[in-house]
Amino acid sequence: MKILAFETSCDETSVAVLEGKKILSNIVVSQMDIHAEFGGVVPEVASRHHVTSITKVIEKALEDAHLTQKDIELVAVTKAPGLIGALLVGINAAKAFAFANNIPILGVNHIKGHIYANEIEDEMKFPLIALVVSGGHTELILMKGHNQFEQIGATQDDAVGEAYDKVARVLGLSYPGGPVVDKLSKDGEDTYSLPRPYLDKKEFNFSFSGVKSAVINTIHNAKQRDEEIRVNDMCRSFQEAVTDVLVDKALWAAEKYNAKQIIVAGGVAANRGLRAKLEKRNVKFDIAIPHIQFCTDNAAMIGVAAYYQYLDVGTSDGMELNGKPYNELGRY
Ligand code: KG4
Ligand code: ZN
Repeated sequence: MKILAFETSCDETSVAVLEGKKILSNIVVSQMDIHAEFGGVVPEVASRHHVTSITKVIEKALEDAHLTQKDIELVAVTKAPGLIGALLVGINAAKAFAFANNIPILGVNHIKGHIYANEIEDEMKFPLIALVVSGGHTELILMKGHNQFEQIGATQDDAVGEAYDKVARVLGLSYPGGPVVDKLSKDGEDTYSLPRPYLDKKEFNFSFSGVKSAVINTIHNAKQRDEEIRVNDMCRSFQEAVTDVLVDKALWAAEKYNAKQIIVAGGVAANRGLRAKLEKRNVKFDIAIPHIQFCTDNAAMIGVAAYYQYLDVGTSDGMELNGKPYNELGRY
């Protein structure tokens, strides 16, 4: 089954070609530099750049896979959640491709794609706990089998990636903030005492706005007193605070649900501090984290998720397929 997969939910225009779950090509054109000057993604600007890039990205993905349009048997596309204008560019390009080549089209949830990025190099072992950490999401999901998702916890306010980006911004660092904070924290010490928002220890919800505000307040107070902020130490302190909570909750959840495996998914899964802490504190679970290039948004992960979705439920999507800004993680 040769699949052409599309991902345009935020600021990456990406198209991949897969044979089953094997990746033949994965082209990712990032708009990060364009949005950096605004300090965050500007939705209308993102949609326009998807429009100008998408045709070239499709052509390059087919060329790198050494295939032509006629070889493709299934089209997969991110349908939700995401920026609606951005999603619609990918969805309409995917529909046009499917219609012109008379092949089926399958809409895929973006978070499902992040989770299935783990199938690119590893096999999932059920039951598993997925720790989903991205710019828009922070969730703990229990999976008892392929394509079965039960949300057992979620952030009550900011997503962890969003908190990283905000902290970076108040420290005067570039966008996106996560990778920069991660890098600077390597040469810092955990000297600013920041709160660990565990909430109720018996449940799996998260909250990151308190720790984000603690960073902002510390910076403002220092400015008023004309004191210097030790940027590396602040990055390290923030990273230690959020990764303590993420790692401990993922391990508790795995214990409670007798999981065989913990998988980490989403852009923040690229975080070196998070990866190292999870490996260090874990004593009994199999840990799977995608290769860094598959943690942030890419179409290969959408293709892999589509492959398993197609095996499970086929496709009933057609030209009525539409984008949705909110999350509706489920079988379809
Ligand atoms: O999954 P993703 O590419 O897009 C969404 O679906 O949101 O995640 C982007 C987020 C951004 O907030 C970015 O700062 C964060 O992932 N991120 C990181 C790292 N690399 C990307 N956060 C912490 N450490 C990193 N190394
Ligand atoms: Zn994402």
